[in-house]
Amino acid sequence: MEQYVIKGGIPLVGEVEIGGAKNAALAILAASIMTDETVTIDNLPDVRDINALLQAMEDIGAKIDRIDAHAVKVNGSFVRDVPVDYESMKKIRASYYLLGSLLGKYKRAEVTLPGGCNIGSRPMDLHIKGFRALGAHVEIRNGAVAAEAERLVGSHIYLDKVSVGATINIMMAAAMAEGKTTIENAAKEPHVVDVANFLNSMGANIRGAGTDVIRIVGVEKLHKTEYSVIPDQIEAGTFMFAAAATKGDVMVRNVIPKHLEATTAKLLEAGCEVEEFDDAVRVVASKPLRHMQVTTLPYPGFPTDMQPQMSVLLGIAEGTSTVTESIFENRFKYVDELARMGADIKVESNIAIISGIKNYAGARVSAPDLRAGAALVIAGLSAEGITIVDDIHYIQRGYEVFEEKLKGLGAQIEKVSSEKEIQKFRLKVS
Ligand code: UD1
Repeated sequence: MEQYVIKGGIPLVGEVEIGGAKNAALAILAASIMTDETVTIDNLPDVRDINALLQAMEDIGAKIDRIDAHAVKVNGSFVRDVPVDYESMKKIRASYYLLGSLLGKYKRAEVTLPGGCNIGSRPMDLHIKGFRALGAHVEIRNGAVAAEAERLVGSHIYLDKVSVGATINIMMAAAMAEGKTTIENAAKEPHVVDVANFLNSMGANIRGAGTDVIRIVGVEKLHKTEYSVIPDQIEAGTFMFAAAATKGDVMVRNVIPKHLEATTAKLLEAGCEVEEFDDAVRVVASKPLRHMQVTTLPYPGFPTDMQPQMSVLLGIAEGTSTVTESIFENRFKYVDELARMGADIKVESNIAIISGIKNYAGARVSAPDLRAGAALVIAGLSAEGITIVDDIHYIQRGYEVFEEKLKGLGAQIEKVSSEKEIQKFRLKVS
């Protein structure tokens, strides 16, 4: 089991390069098998979730050629009509995107139903509602979602709740349905737009992605393309918050500043300086952090995937703050871990009430999920003393060479896998 060991209290200073967006890349990879021609995708992050999805795609017959760590050629002409099994689904929840892509292309798909996960129950009713509206017969069979259609026919679909996954899944299936589909109350996240742009580059006809009404005219066939994934707004936001929590000065490069507006706005409100460039943002934190109220919302609201990082920051801000989680019901699991570092946080229903303390104190903590894991690393970076973060396999699902990038900013952090290595680190930094 690997861990991070961190000696905190050093302001992060320097430049960091952001990789491709994991959540855009997952959907784009799943969509890449919708043509029989070879698709080239680059700016992929080299993280566990991506590699797990590529494996799931190989398991159903897709031909995957790695060009390098961040680029891949995919050929979907060998995809077989086999269910995407439990093992794949367990490793990577986003293999549910294969439902939309396989249903669109072959009019048949079967994917094991994802179980609950660490941040909430995460139902798929809206995905299923959309597939049914397109004329598919969908049933839950032996723990799997099985969808089948003689013909997929365009339809008018209203999503009762804004869902990134359902919007993308329905968009993929509708791209190869007959006639027009309208998705209302669609998710507007940058990765929804990226997937639409990708499908359009394959010959699809999708308009309106990035607004809450997406209009799709189905096409019979999609063709090859070469595509580069957008930068990861959550990785970028995580480094921006790490800069703020350590009182640092960090230039975050290879970003689309527009995608970071909610994060930037909240950092300004907390008293940081944020300077925007064409493809970079610089965060400087020289003043005491101020308390505030935050609510997670679908894009362009403050992202739920930045909620734990936000709580960590407010944990050392002056005064009392509240963080309201409106997307997932179980996303405060990290609070108990943070309390071991001295945080004063009470959770009532979906609201965390945070009384700022002066500083965290290093402790041994466990990453409960991907983003909360990254947030605990930020707490460790700002803490007095040494923090050990266990279960970093969660963090590795979505952050490429996290510790290397942090070291590049002056952090004292090591990836270790034994008590002996932890002792060695203690001696080195003492
Ligand atoms: C995606 C992201 C995840 C992010 C989330 C919200 C990927 C791989 N994951 O997850 O990192 O935290 O968006 O920005 O891109 N819901 C339903 N029924 C459904 C589908 C969703 O009720 O059929 C609910 C969910 O329980 C949740 C809300 O809708 O309360 C939003 O979920 P959704 O946007 O679908 O999240 P994901 O696509 O799973």
